[in-house]
Amino acid sequence: MRFGPTIIAQAEALAALTERPGMLARSYLTPQHRRAGEQIRAWMREAGMQADFDALGNVVGRYAGSKPGAPMVMTGSHMDTVVNAGKYDGIFGVLAPIACVAALHREGKRLAFPIEVVAFGDEEGVRFGTSMMGSKALSGHFDDAVLDSRDAQGVALRDALRDFGGDAAAIAGLRRRPEQIRVYVETHIEQGPVLLQEGLPVGVVTAIAGSSRVRVQVRGEEGHAGTVPMALRHDALAAASEMVLALERHCRATDGRVVGTVGKLAVADGGAINVIPGLVEFTVDMRSGDDATRRRAVAETQAMFRELAGARGVALEWTPLQELGAAPCDASEQESLARAIEAHGIAVRRLPSGAGHDAMQFSGVAPIAMLFVRCGNGGISHSPRETLAAEDAEVATAVLLRYLEGLA
Ligand code: HGY
Ligand code: MN
Ligand code: MN
Repeated sequence: MRFGPTIIAQAEALAALTERPGMLARSYLTPQHRRAGEQIRAWMREAGMQADFDALGNVVGRYAGSKPGAPMVMTGSHMDTVVNAGKYDGIFGVLAPIACVAALHREGKRLAFPIEVVAFGDEEGVRFGTSMMGSKALSGHFDDAVLDSRDAQGVALRDALRDFGGDAAAIAGLRRRPEQIRVYVETHIEQGPVLLQEGLPVGVVTAIAGSSRVRVQVRGEEGHAGTVPMALRHDALAAASEMVLALERHCRATDGRVVGTVGKLAVADGGAINVIPGLVEFTVDMRSGDDATRRRAVAETQAMFRELAGARGVALEWTPLQELGAAPCDASEQESLARAIEAHGIAVRRLPSGAGHDAMQFSGVAPIAMLFVRCGNGGISHSPRETLAAEDAEVATAVLLRYLEGLA
């Protein structure tokens, strides 16, 4: 195998760069982001690319083409992770194109277009709440207002970026003009069970689901756990719990068209065993392949929460954090990926992505394409139990290289 074992070893090395001992957690603008970026930059340079950090902390590698002025092929994914992450979410989509360029470089080959490989510093949005800041900047969708968002320690993004060596004033200049981009193609682990169940190493993504992220605050009345009669309570956590289950029921009833998750919930100040919770905050993440369906489900959920809050005499604060529209993958690029897969004697499986990806930021700016690689272990992701077989990394990288060479 030309690519697989190296990629697995590189992912292993990057997984050691974590903020939390005993698990993989690497968020935006941290020392671990810096060290992972330096390692990725070194691998890009070894592969014959001009590479460096940009003003937002993305690492960008460029491999010139043979035809001056030809629009580039952009490819890449994110190098940040969720908390207690797997080793391949995002990073596989950085390492696979680096391996492709390294192979071209070894053979002294140049394709008819430049290749730009990007390791986006923030896709998960773990530290500052809104996600995909790197791909938003490069696709021209960056909203300067996020520079004032703060992390859990109260550090403003603007300050963290300056301390990282970034430059908020240069963000606007990071935008790639549409005419510069021939296609944005992203390789990513499936993060689901379909390819595994069907015995396929790779698949072509048809579309990326849209998502809504909301912060919910439920304000009731704290009180003594022993003295307040049950009928007189305005228990914020009991109300929030009812909302969580109502969301689950509501999404289950859509028969797969909408998924909803409460990933974080906290009682203010941590709560105490003998105190009725007065203030609870939780997050809502809702997704659908169809934007109108998602928006309707989000509105229905908000109305449901209002009703539950009213019935319990608690106050509800509903704060939308982020909306990402569903993104269709370009039909002809899907065809090109399908042909590259067939050339490896593999059946072509097309499937949607329930997970969001940097590619969606380029939708409407340039044609987008995504290649999925099989996840082992039941397809689990956003978990240390995420696995990727070297053989599958090999196939996906070889297919990506063939796709790139086919574009030439
Ligand atoms: O949340 C997502 O879909 C992606 O992992 N950022
Ligand atoms: Mn992820
Ligand atoms: Mn990802």
